[in-house]
Order: sequence, then C-alpha cells, then structure tokens
Amino acid sequence: MIKIGVLVSGSGTNLQSIIDASFRGEVDGEVAIVISNNASAFALTRAEDKGIPTRVVSHKGFPDRRRFDMELVKVLNGFNVDLVALAGFMRVLTPEFLEHFPGRVMNIHPALLPSFPGLGVRQKAIDHGVRFSGCTVHFVDQGVDTGPIIIQATVPVYPDDREEQLQERILRLEHKIYPKAIQLFAQGRLKIEGRKVFIDGLKKDEDQCMINPPLHI
Ligand code: GAR
Repeated sequence: MIKIGVLVSGSGTNLQSIIDASFRGEVDGEVAIVISNNASAFALTRAEDKGIPTRVVSHKGFPDRRRFDMELVKVLNGFNVDLVALAGFMRVLTPEFLEHFPGRVMNIHPALLPSFPGLGVRQKAIDHGVRFSGCTVHFVDQGVDTGPIIIQATVPVYPDDREEQLQERILRLEHKIYPKAIQLFAQGRLKIEGRKVFIDGLKKDEDQCMINPPLHI
C-alpha cells in the first residue's frame, strides 16, 4: 500500500476519483494527506468527508516559491508519502521540491501533451480546430507540462463545441486514467527512461484507433 499526497487548488473531482478508486481497492494505496494552496477549495471538503487529513498551505504566506515548496515538502514528509499527485494544483513546483521526490510526482493535464501545455487549453484546442483532444497523466519534471508521459486518453473535438462541453468530455476520462496511472505506479510497473515511460506487461494493440469524423459519414 503506497501513501499518496495529493495537491489541489480547486474543485477536486480528480481527487475524488483517486479516493473512490482506493476505497474500491482499485488502487493499492491510500490518500494520506491532501494539501491545498487555496483555503476555499472544495477538494478539502471532499477529503474531510472521507476522514482524510488536510492542510492549507497558502502560497501567499511565503516570500518566494522555494520557501512555499519547502513547506509542502515538510508536510508531505510528515505523512511519509511515496507519491505526490497534483490534481488541479495551479502552482508550478520548483526544482528543489522535485529533488525531494525524484520520479515520484505526477500531474494530470486536460490536453494531449505535448500539444496545448499551460492554461486555458480546452478553448485553445477548440479554437485550433483539432479533431481530437484528451488528457495526459505524466511525471513532473522542471518544465511546465513537459515530463514523461504515463497514460493518455482521447476524446473527439467538434468545431461548435463549447468549452464546458469539451471540459466535461475530458474530465470523465481524467477520472479513469489518473487512478490507473497511480495503480501502475503502486504496482511498480512504471520505468522512466529519458522521456519515455515503459509499462511492465503492456501488450501492443496494432488495431486500436479513433477516426474523427468517422469514415462512414
Ligand atoms: C482538471 O481538468 C485538471 O486536468 C486541470 O485542472 C482540472 C482540475 O479539476 N489541471 C490543470 O489544468 C493543470 N495545469 P478538479 O479540481 O475537479 O480535479
């Protein structure tokens, strides 16, 4: 059973999916601590409802990013976490933070990286006219949304989509792939080699594909 520290800033639907998967036994781990930089994040209520310890560490209370991050490290180490999962955590972590958890920090991003890193990415995908977008769980490195990719899921994008529509479509898949990525980590099946993540026991499926629009129209 691994101990997971989850960092959040907002609603916490991904946190909920991780908690629920762990309660169902689909993740060999438990959420040991939830830390929010935002005291009014609904994610905190979700954790408290399940009896999971929470802390608020506001970035506003620190003179620089490094000292904010060191406080996060202190709290996470106090709970002996094996894995740090960023779940809608809207702060960029410093290299000093990452040094404390090498290969042990994951993030979920609502686009198919390396396309559309950063913020406002669902609207950017619609505006660009792509036929697919999706979500990515990746290990965190020193860049923004640049780390080795663990798992991705695709959804179709339509030119007349509203951002909220695409957001809902993507979120449904986020809630499936984040617990899966964490379970692969908990099972010790992920090996990082440079930019690539090799998954122990993964078989190739040469026929898997999605075409949008479909060929039959
Ligand atoms: C999710 O869509 C997640 O992918 C995104 O924030 C949302 C958080 O939702 N993360 C980022 O954009 C990180 N750059 P949640 O609080 O309901 O899990």
